[in-house]
Formats: sequence, structure tokens, C-alpha cells
Amino acid sequence: MKTKQFDFGLVGLGVMGRNFILNVAENGYSALGLSSSIKKIELLRKHGKGTQIDGTNSDRDFISKLKSPRIIMFLVPSGKPVDLMIERLLPLMSSGDLIIDGGNSHFSDTDRRYDYLLNKGIRFIGSGISGGSKGARVGPSIMPGGEKKSYEIVKPIFESVSAKINNEPCVAYLGPKSSGHYVKMIHNGIEYALMQLISETYHMLKIGLKLNNNSIYKIFEKWNKDRLSSYLIEITKNIFTKNDNRSGKYIVDLILDKAKQKGTGKWTSQHAMDIGINVPTIDAAVSMRIISSFKRIREKTSNIYDTKRVGRINISEDDLEKSLYFGFIISYAQGLSQLKMASEVFHYNLDLELICRIWRGGCIIRANLLESIRKAYNKNKSIDNLLQDSDFSKIILGCESSIRKVCKYAINESIPFNGMLSALSYFDAIKSKNLPTNLIQAQRDYFGEHTYERIDKEGFFHTKWE
Ligand code: 6PG
Repeated sequence: MKTKQFDFGLVGLGVMGRNFILNVAENGYSALGLSSSIKKIELLRKHGKGTQIDGTNSDRDFISKLKSPRIIMFLVPSGKPVDLMIERLLPLMSSGDLIIDGGNSHFSDTDRRYDYLLNKGIRFIGSGISGGSKGARVGPSIMPGGEKKSYEIVKPIFESVSAKINNEPCVAYLGPKSSGHYVKMIHNGIEYALMQLISETYHMLKIGLKLNNNSIYKIFEKWNKDRLSSYLIEITKNIFTKNDNRSGKYIVDLILDKAKQKGTGKWTSQHAMDIGINVPTIDAAVSMRIISSFKRIREKTSNIYDTKRVGRINISEDDLEKSLYFGFIISYAQGLSQLKMASEVFHYNLDLELICRIWRGGCIIRANLLESIRKAYNKNKSIDNLLQDSDFSKIILGCESSIRKVCKYAINESIPFNGMLSALSYFDAIKSKNLPTNLIQAQRDYFGEHTYERIDKEGFFHTKWE
């Protein structure tokens, strides 16, 4: 094989990596994978038959066969493995080469790596990639951040491999440094919130409306044809059709109710607090995953507090559709408000309309709703909060009485409803001209002389309370 023949290099041939590089090769680019596993290289060659694809387990071989400037994408686990791989390849690379980290890296790591590599003359793009392993193969949503000039190098490849909506690629340059990974983190925070809201709605359909899996399937199928239409509703619908081969039972009924997490939702909540923005539905989703992990404690406590259910059903399927739609809108509103704040704090200069545009296809939170959200930001780019948009306020008002009814029902029936209640509370708080926080200011001043501001004059004041 002659040297310098490959357009694109990919490090890490796990499922995501393999599928992404196959996607690149199927789009007409020559692509070379690097992996220490001979098995994975052979698998890549087998799946990539008919395309210009190859694999190697030698760093030197990998680097020598890539065209200049080299485009090297990492799809390795986030954290240490990214740094180790940078250190391995760096001595072999040349000034102007480009590294793209396509994993779920924490944005602060991306900033650190960006500065470090800039000093060494190496370009660096931190890019979120969403769509799971299938998306990586057939068209993911790609969220790159870094230097614009660096993005231009990989732009044709990313635009070819990404998902398309109305012929528009679900990828775009988002902003400097860690902006791409920040946007992906928020994507995942929203993903957590939507999943929590869907699972609470499922709980209501099961415990409240006492429906079986087949009926729940039919409801999600119907919803997926209407305004709730989205990737997550679609896969949820399918889950209710899958039986266990051995027992014949529904798999969903055999799965232990302990949700795992890799941490991106938690990062969203943590950083929201750091920059002083509230995303309570994302917080609730993270918190519910944590409480779900305490199965033994929940079992023990359930023996003490026997759950008495009144069992009188006063909610309908329509109420549940409306409350879920309300919750979806609130989740996107919270995530986007965090992006707006982060953009100011880090000078990312994010274009929220553009972000909604690239989230419409390929990614886990893709939904019909995102087209309407995109339009809202197109109408008014600097909108403080999605809930201020006139079209969305009408929708929210149309769902409001249903979500209140469903929340009351959950409280009366002792059904945990953290996500949905947090969405409603967020709405109630953000539309409250007056909050009781004047009292909190008085208390702070009372015990700590922290001072307060007044409604009748400018300045900071302290009272001798005793
Ligand atoms: C995506 C997903 C993905 C995510 C895991 C689940 O956009 O393709 O968001 O990146 O990491 O699928 O993450 P948790 O383990 O945290 O639920």
C-alpha cells in the first residue's frame, strides 16, 4: 500500500468507532482505523468490503498513511484514554494536523486539550456526536467546536456522513474551543429529562390507567404520529412489543428498575449551578436515576410506608399526552436557557437556532418539536426563554390544565413524579412576577448581615433585626 493515501483516520474501533469510519468510507472517502485489537481490524475490513477502508495496530503505520494535513478522529472512552492517545500520537504528528475528539468529553478537558495542542501546532476540534451506534453508521448529528479554520478541513466529510433533514446536514460549526462538547452535554441533559418524563408517563399509563403493554404500545404509536413524534417516543413504542425468547414475557417487565448513567446529565446539572441557571427537570432526571439505584433501601422503606391507592381515575390519555408535551417543551427550554447562559459566560457566541437545526435529525433528542423551536429562535434570536415565544405560550396554555390534573393525580395516588412536577414548578416560578425570596433576603440579613436590596430605593441595606 502506498503511503499517504487515506483521507481520514479513526482511533478506536469499538462499535461507535467502527460504525462511524464505515459511514465515512461509504461516503467515498478513504479511511484508516487504528486499534490494538487485530479482531476489530479484521471485522472492519470485513464490514468495509468494497470501500477504501483499512485498519492497523501500529501508530507509525497509521500516521504515515494519512494525507496531509492529517484528519484524525478519536472515538475512545472519555477521560484519561483521550489524553493517553494524544501523547502516543503527538510525537509522530506534524504541525497543522487535526485531532477531533468525538467522545463525550467534559468541556473543561476539551479547553485544556485545545490550549495544549495549540501550543504544539496541532489543531483540535471537540465534537459531540449523537445517535448511538446506529446513528454513527447511517447519519449522526455532529456538534463540532474549535477554530473555524480547523473545522473547514473536516467539513466536507462531516457534512457527507451526518444525518440530513430537508437536505440540510445535521452538522455545523458551533463556536470556539469547548463549545461543541458543551452543546453535546446539554443535548444529553435534555435527553435525561425527556427519558424521565416518558418513564413517568409510562408509570401513569400502567398504574393509573391500568393499561397493559400492548395498549401502552398503541398509545405511544399514536403519539408518535402526532406532535410528540420523536426518536425517543418511537423507540419507547417499540420496547412495548419485545418479548423474551425464553419466558415469552415482555422484556420491559423483566428489566430491573435501576437506571445507570455515565455522567453527562450530572455534568449538565452541576454546571448549571456553577453558572447560576436553573434546569430542575434535568436535575430531577439525574436525581431519579440515583434514587432508582437504591433498590434495597426502596424495598425496605416500602414495607414501612404501605402505599394506599385511591384508584379513582380522573385523568385521560389526552391529559397524559398534553402533560408529556408540556414536559418536553420545558426540558428543551431549560437546556437552551443553559446554553444561552454558557454562551455568555464562555463567549461561545452560540446560535441557538443553528443548534436546533442540527438537533432535528440523527441525535437522540431529535423530535418534530425541534423544528418549531428552531422557528421560534429564527423569529427572535435573543429570546430569554422559549416560554416567551408567542406560539409556544399558546401551546403551553393549552396543556396547562392537563399537567396540573395529572400532577394532582400523581400526588394523590403516591406515584413518584419528580420530572413532571419539576417541569410544572419551573413554569410556575418563571412566570411569577413576585416570589417569596424577599423573606430569604431578610433571613440572610438577620443572621449574617448580608444586606438586601429594596423595592422603593436603590442600594444595599442592613437592618438591626433585634
Ligand atoms: C447520544 C447519547 C450518548 C450517551 C449514552 C447514554 O447522544 O448518542 O447521548 O452519547 O452517552 O447513550 O448515556 P448515559 O449512560 O449517561 O445514560
